[in-house]
Order: sequence, then structure tokens, then C-alpha cells
Amino acid sequence: MIKILFICLGNICRSPMAEFLFKDMVAKRGLADKFYIASAATSSYEIGNPVHPGTRNKLAQYGISVAGKTAVQLTKADYDKYDYLIGMESSNIRNILRIVGSDSRHKVYKLLQFAGSERDIADPWYTGNFDVTYNDIHEGCTALLEYLLKNKTGV
Ligand code: 4NP
Repeated sequence: MIKILFICLGNICRSPMAEFLFKDMVAKRGLADKFYIASAATSSYEIGNPVHPGTRNKLAQYGISVAGKTAVQLTKADYDKYDYLIGMESSNIRNILRIVGSDSRHKVYKLLQFAGSERDIADPWYTGNFDVTYNDIHEGCTALLEYLLKNKTGV
């Protein structure tokens, strides 16, 4: 079982988009039972709030539901609970490290690293553009799954 936590600032736009898209990708390959997948915020701003309509509508275009998801905040204990803690942009990484302490077991990544890029994924809370963000998250999640299938046993 590989445990993955996607992380952004608010846990209502980007990290739930990654969570539910990646869940859909692994389900389509018949691998759902090999993974535990969730998402969380570095901030407390949106705790308890549902997924942003921009993310909900974008995923609905692909038949993916985000029903029931509400925002939660990353905790220090999540560092032990998960194998991969994956942020969307550099400021997420700084905030993740502030919450969990040091990354002694090299579990913290930025999503597009798996696609060979140091780029950040833009925050649609500010840009209003959920299409561009979806394309980046799709690229990152596709590369993440390829990486795990290639490099990890038990998948
Ligand atoms: P996210 O977007 O980090 O992709 O979920 C944001 C959502 C809410 C806020 C900032 C970013 N906010 O300031 O409340």
C-alpha cells in the first residue's frame, strides 16, 4: 500500500484536484486497493469547507466526483502516516517543512518534479484559470503514477 498526501495552501482547489484525479487514474488501472490517497492544506483558512466549484466543475467534465471532501490541515503526524507528501508549489514545500520539521526520510516532493520540471502549479484561487491548473496537475499525476509503477514494488 502506497500512501500519498497531496498538499496545497487551502485544500479546496489544487490538492483536491490532484487527489481525485489520481484516485481516478489508479482506479481505471485496477490499482485502487494498492493506494491510500488524500489531500490537505498547509493553512487553516478553509478547514471544513467543500471543494471550490472551479475544481468541482472541471473534474465533473471528466466524470470525476469530489462529493464529501472537505478541507483539512496538514499535521506533523502526517509525516509518519504517508509515504509521499506532494506539494504544488515552492511555498507549499516551505510550509510543509515548517509543519512536519525536517524531511529526514525524503518524502516531500513538488508534483511537477515527477514530470522532470521544477515549475510551480499556479493557484487558481488567484488566477481563476482552472484549465491551466488541471493540465499541470494531469501532467504531474500521470508522471507520478508512471514513476511509482516503474520504481516501487507492490504496485
Ligand atoms: P488552493 O487555493 O491552495 O489551491 O486550495 C487556495 C484556496 C484558498 C485560499 C488560498 C488558496 N485562501 O486564501 O483562502
